[in-house]
Amino acid sequence: MIQTDLLIIGAGPGGYRAAGYAAKQGLNVIIFEADHVGGTCLNVGCIPTKSFARNAEVMQALRDAETFGLNDLDYKFDFQKVIQRKDEVLSSLRSGIETLLSHPNITLVKAAAQFKDAHTVTADGEEYSAPHIIVATGSVPKSLRLAEPVGRCVLDSADLLSIDHLPKSLCIIGAGVIGMEFASIFNAFGTQVTVVEFLKECLPVLDSDIAKRLRKSLEKQGVTFHMQSGVTAITEAGVVFTDKKGKSVTVEAEEVLMAVGRAPRVFEHFSKAGFEYAERAGIVVNEHLQTTVPHIYAIGDVNGRQMLAHAAEMQGIHVVNQIVGKADDICLDIMPAAIFTQPEAACVGLSEDRCKEQGREYVCKKSFWRANGKALAMNEVEGMLKLIVSPQGDILGCHAYGVHAADLIQEVSALMCRNTTVEQLADMIHIHPTLSEILQAAAEG
Ligand code: NAI
Repeated sequence: MIQTDLLIIGAGPGGYRAAGYAAKQGLNVIIFEADHVGGTCLNVGCIPTKSFARNAEVMQALRDAETFGLNDLDYKFDFQKVIQRKDEVLSSLRSGIETLLSHPNITLVKAAAQFKDAHTVTADGEEYSAPHIIVATGSVPKSLRLAEPVGRCVLDSADLLSIDHLPKSLCIIGAGVIGMEFASIFNAFGTQVTVVEFLKECLPVLDSDIAKRLRKSLEKQGVTFHMQSGVTAITEAGVVFTDKKGKSVTVEAEEVLMAVGRAPRVFEHFSKAGFEYAERAGIVVNEHLQTTVPHIYAIGDVNGRQMLAHAAEMQGIHVVNQIVGKADDICLDIMPAAIFTQPEAACVGLSEDRCKEQGREYVCKKSFWRANGKALAMNEVEGMLKLIVSPQGDILGCHAYGVHAADLIQEVSALMCRNTTVEQLADMIHIHPTLSEILQAAAEG
């Protein structure tokens, strides 16, 4: 039996960041990973998507070339080069994580770990034990339960990221974060993209006013949306759905992407540890990320709270702080998020819709990219920001779409963590000319 201070199952952003931080705090850590280090985010999620998204951005800029005085440009799109660049980014980041995990206090075990009991984990025939255990096993894509068997190959986001050819047409089921990012990317690459979504509006996390504008923007760029449409079958020809008028429609497509959400990755061996978990909802945790067996913690997608890499990272650091008895200021309730479409969208805190649902009093302050000097100079005039404040001036949330929206939301997130009022925000000097003045304009508004 190998004894240490902390065992971590899973080397995604939650697990590897917790391991690095714990090692710096003087703990001896053993971290288990059955696959590549970096988890979904690095290998089949955020990073490869953002690499593709950057290619899409460059292509979009080339389409606007004449606006910038570059006439008669001649170029060929080489999708193999796109894949090669993405793979280079991944391998460089993977080696960065392996360096982080080569800290003398950390042992990386490249094998699948299983609970034997609440204090013991086995991997590759060896037994390991520690007074604290962190579970960070991530999530897996969900799939639709259809009455008819699926009559063709359906891709998930990981499959689409490792595709070796550019499809002529792509039907995406689900207009959530994954569906919208891939719609934006592949549309820019020249694929004919159709999105089928069950709900009235895309991106349920976003203020519906902003979500609608973003959807209309992608529509103008060439993406076809079928909203309020429930998929009934996936056949060799394509995707069959019932549209909002009750008519059965088939979208023919070379490839089909299933993007209807992700589920926590739970395993049967969790039952040997004795903590509570459910197939769909994940591991039950309290506000300290402790499972129902107090020395075992669950961080990241597997606890089903917020499926975001940065949420997993900060949850991990918070757990390590509890283990070493260190107070911190981490506020896990203020969780900014971004959607990397073109233009991008981002949010933190309450939307106008949530305020209405909760019967809260609020004031909505808006500002627009087209009224900002830097946005005009950049020829990026599309975008709107909504700042939601209480009648007393407390910032309740901010939702936006427009180029670099995520950077603006990050500022709001920092201010919310420090309970800054909207009047204080309006008084803060913002550099001219920058997009950050869009936020100040809303605060003044
Ligand atoms: P999601 O929960 O964001 O969206 C799934 C969408 O599928 C919803 O709009 C839902 O109404 C729709 N849907 C469900 N059943 C359907 C049906 N039968 N027919 C048509 N539409 C249907 O899930 P998504 O996009 O798969 O993302 C999974 C997770 O990964 C999310 O929690 C997301 O936050 C995270 N993620 C975050 C990213 C980021 O931060 N930029 C990037 C990618 C994923």
